[in-house]
Amino acid sequence: MKILHVDASAKRERSNSRALSRFFLERLREQGVEFEVDYLDVSVDTPAHVTEAFAIATYTPEHERTEAMKATLAPSDELCRRLIEADAFVFAMPMYNWSIPSAFKAYIDNIIRTNLTYVNTADGRIEGVLTRQKALFVTSRGADLRAGSPYASMDALTPALRAAFGFIGVNAPVFVDAQPLQFSDQAARTEALERARAELTAVAADWASSFNAGMANAAAISTNRDDVVA
Ligand SMILES: Cc1cc2nc3c(=O)[nH]c(=O)nc-3n(C[C@H](O)[C@H](O)[C@H](O)COP(=O)(O)O)c2cc1C
Repeated sequence: MKILHVDASAKRERSNSRALSRFFLERLREQGVEFEVDYLDVSVDTPAHVTEAFAIATYTPEHERTEAMKATLAPSDELCRRLIEADAFVFAMPMYNWSIPSAFKAYIDNIIRTNLTYVNTADGRIEGVLTRQKALFVTSRGADLRAGSPYASMDALTPALRAAFGFIGVNAPVFVDAQPLQFSDQAARTEALERARAELTAVAADWASSFNAGMANAAAISTNRDDVVA
């Protein structure tokens, strides 16, 4: 099994979202899930912003694309391939100015692609392709945006992520939002991290039970096949 793990914080060792995404993967391993990680740090390997050449090439039908258009789209094709090949996604990022960090937004602009991550159906609908993968979003916020907080209405991060990834087929993404991590006293920050770790531990247990059940089913099917052949 392969997990695509994407970090997006501008911070490194001091980043809470990075630490929490690592924490999640450690809990998953502890639960006996065997997986490889395809890692991408979009704050270092930031995908290109949308250019005029990209905007034209992406909506040109494949059979009409020039070699130059294909070259323009190649890095985005590769990012889409990594998503399609993964069995699960772990996306970690801070909230910047109430929304998505620009490096992660550039990533989103590269992975929403016709005939790769979504398709136009014959009857005029649009269908996302990434329906089989589980998805976890770990977000870190300086303020507390939970219901009841004066900042609750300012969350433009969660709906934007839901919309973008829902469009390409991601069903029922899980969100673990660590908050408040900056604009609060130390006790509230510590409590926020503890709450996030507890939620991540629960998500890891949930993923482990479905992954381990999937592996058991696959093993049973292959055993039955051996029986038939024998
Ligand atoms: C440029 C910048 C903008 C930020 N904007 C917000 C914001 O709009 N709302 C918020 O709650 N926190 C905001 N923060 C705080 C971060 O979201 C918070 O410190 C978070 O824990 C950082 O995650 P990290 O440790 O993974 O980098 C901002 C931080 C930076 C550096």
